[in-house]
Amino acid sequence: MYCVHVVGARPNFMKAAPVVRALGAKGGMRQALVHTGQHYDQNMSDVFFRELEIPEPDFNLAVGSGTHAFQTGQIMMRFESVVQDSRPDWVLVYGDVNSTIAAALVCSKLHIPVAHVEAGLRSFDRRMPEEINRLLTDQIADLLFTPSADGDQNLLREGIPAERIRLVGNVMIDTLVRLLPKAADSLPEKLPRDYALVTLHRPSNVDDPQMLSGLLQVLEEISRRVTVIFPVHPRTRQKISQLGFTPGDGFQLWEPQSYLQFLGLQQRALVVITDSGGIQEETTFLKVPCLTVRDSTERPVTVTIGSNILVGRDLQRLRREVEVLLGGQQKKGSIPPLWDGRAAQRIADVLCAG
Ligand code: UD1
Repeated sequence: MYCVHVVGARPNFMKAAPVVRALGAKGGMRQALVHTGQHYDQNMSDVFFRELEIPEPDFNLAVGSGTHAFQTGQIMMRFESVVQDSRPDWVLVYGDVNSTIAAALVCSKLHIPVAHVEAGLRSFDRRMPEEINRLLTDQIADLLFTPSADGDQNLLREGIPAERIRLVGNVMIDTLVRLLPKAADSLPEKLPRDYALVTLHRPSNVDDPQMLSGLLQVLEEISRRVTVIFPVHPRTRQKISQLGFTPGDGFQLWEPQSYLQFLGLQQRALVVITDSGGIQEETTFLKVPCLTVRDSTERPVTVTIGSNILVGRDLQRLRREVEVLLGGQQKKGSIPPLWDGRAAQRIADVLCAG
């Protein structure tokens, strides 16, 4: 059997790593890895390959940055030539980034079977580019691997036949479970005892200068009570420098962290403030309080079962929730079913069962 994995952006790498390993352990399997090059900086891409022990990509499409149409179109054009002649038995796409929909679309037109890992998640907010990527990928994929039961319900409601859907659990948690023992060794030496860990990169937060400066002001206030550590995504860094913002002493703007560094930072954080998808899941597994600065989440189990609180784009609410945490009260969460480190094994079993 010949399987091709397509990855492109930072959150894809930790999802593909365990699936590549699990399939590699099966006999008679040939695999190829395609990196679209959507993310290309050393600290957004290469370091993840090293730490996650993902093999070097067999193909690098080197598309780089651009508008959504440019990036998606370039990936499609370049990816088509990779699969057109080799005709894999399965192409695996991950998550909800532009690389995911681009590769799925190419395969569906060439009648090459596509499996979507992390299918069925919905924020119900079509202004998010990721929501469009999720909806369309799920409509054209042949096999849909869901991380939680809400995913199955969403897909069934959208008319996807039940026999295409497999509830396998969360592959991102597979990677976390495997690498957590190494994360503590990757922490910087001088880390404050208590700190709030921040990541922000969604267009809805960082592309609107008023929203971004409001957020920075709240974080600056928080940093007078507890150190704020903010590893800054490249798109956010551009926007912060356009605002001419200079942080105070307790507000530390860091470079993007590696997988192990960031995992260690999450584990030790007093609170995580984020607009990321995957971080809502990782904090849920780690039972660390998470405040999500978005109006919706495509990962509702992190709120209903986990330690996540959706504060919306409401800065007063963010201030209040941080106060509550600093006052020693925190939401108790538990770990959703099948987030057990064995999701990739289930995927490999399904693919190999034919
Ligand atoms: C993409 C995904 C988003 C995911 C995020 C994780 C889509 C639609 N969005 O958003 O779902 O949460 O990745 O990081 O696919 N840049 C660099 N170096 C890089 C990569 C990007 O400097 O290695 C800068 C470029 O200026 C680029 C900008 O970041 O224009 C945005 O990159 P892009 O891949 O378009 O989207 P992300 O915001 O990273």
